[in-house]
Amino acid sequence: MLFAFDDAQCRSLAETHGTPCFAYSAAAAAGQFTSLRGVLPERVRIAYAVKANPHPELLRCFAGLGASFDCASIGELERVEALRLPAGRTFFAGPGKREAELQKALYMGVRVQAEGFEDLARLDALATRETTVNLRVHPAFDIDEGNRIIGGSGPSAFGVDEEDVPALLEKAAKLDHVRIKGLHVFAASNQRDAAKLGAIHGAVLDLARRLNEAHGLAFEQIDLGGGLGVPYAPDEAPLDLAAFGQNLSDLLARHPWFKGELILEPGRFLAGPCGLYLARVVRIKESRGTRFAILEGGINHLIRPLLTGQPFPVRAVGKGGGAVPYTLAGPLCTSLDRLGEVRLPELAAGDLLAFGTAGAYGLNEGMTHFLSHPVPPEVWVG
Ligand SMILES: Cc1ncc(COP(=O)(O)O)c(C=O)c1O
Repeated sequence: MLFAFDDAQCRSLAETHGTPCFAYSAAAAAGQFTSLRGVLPERVRIAYAVKANPHPELLRCFAGLGASFDCASIGELERVEALRLPAGRTFFAGPGKREAELQKALYMGVRVQAEGFEDLARLDALATRETTVNLRVHPAFDIDEGNRIIGGSGPSAFGVDEEDVPALLEKAAKLDHVRIKGLHVFAASNQRDAAKLGAIHGAVLDLARRLNEAHGLAFEQIDLGGGLGVPYAPDEAPLDLAAFGQNLSDLLARHPWFKGELILEPGRFLAGPCGLYLARVVRIKESRGTRFAILEGGINHLIRPLLTGQPFPVRAVGKGGGAVPYTLAGPLCTSLDRLGEVRLPELAAGDLLAFGTAGAYGLNEGMTHFLSHPVPPEVWVG
């Protein structure tokens, strides 16, 4: 599903809330969560990656369905704190955790994904009782990760390099309060191929077994991170959920030594499909053979096309199909302000464009402060 709302709903949203605006469908978000939950073995937990979209209603929706949460800043921790969840349903990852953030995590009873010895030592100094953490490892195995968001197996700011783990464990053993009881490896981004995700997850469990055998680490948790992909174009197949779930069942069966739980941290998969961005055409301009549609919003609201080269799926509301080539430009003072090269029906000023799959890494990833355009409303359609 590329678009969470039909033309009539888009028109009504634009009239009621003005444009540009974002709208999120509660039904689509809940559907995405329950369809994933439905294929997973019981021993797999879903921790929604708040960074994908921290909208409070979306968090409440997933919390009500039993989600745990993966946070990456004190701001995200505060948003999850507002949900008043029982302890043990929140994780905290990130390569540059400040002391105040670790303090907050300890206060909330959050499980920290330690990304280096500094995290362990700082936590140890702050903690007053035994504190269990997961160790985030940057694996040495080569990864077919899809988009290069995580960075492959080269140098990385994330986690502890696999080859440095033994030295870190030796130092960690001398700490008073902090105990490593879990592993975290996140090695994929926007991957729609269940077999490729399965291969990465298999390599992570093999790494866990090596660490278990070499260092006696009895993991309570192995966190496989996020990276479950969604289609951004009509010719892109969705992730085969049944195969994805089966692969995880097979994986647990292949690793009987592991008695703990697997954690998944999907962000894009859970939040992407529920969201839509609406913006009107301000003017059409022909320049030296290129036809621009200049819109009310651009990379201040949707920066993903600039980062990945892939436009969001887009349609002209109420105009049906068409094949006129347009370069979609935003209103900012930079030629980087492009939402992609697309084919649409003939456009005119005032036409309403709907961008689908905009619920993840949409407004919260945009350059909202640049040029001080008003921040668009985000409408929760329950
Ligand atoms: C630690 C961690 N977990 C989960 C995610 C969510 O990834 P995705 O939205 O691709 O599922 C990210 C994304 O950057 C991440 O860094």
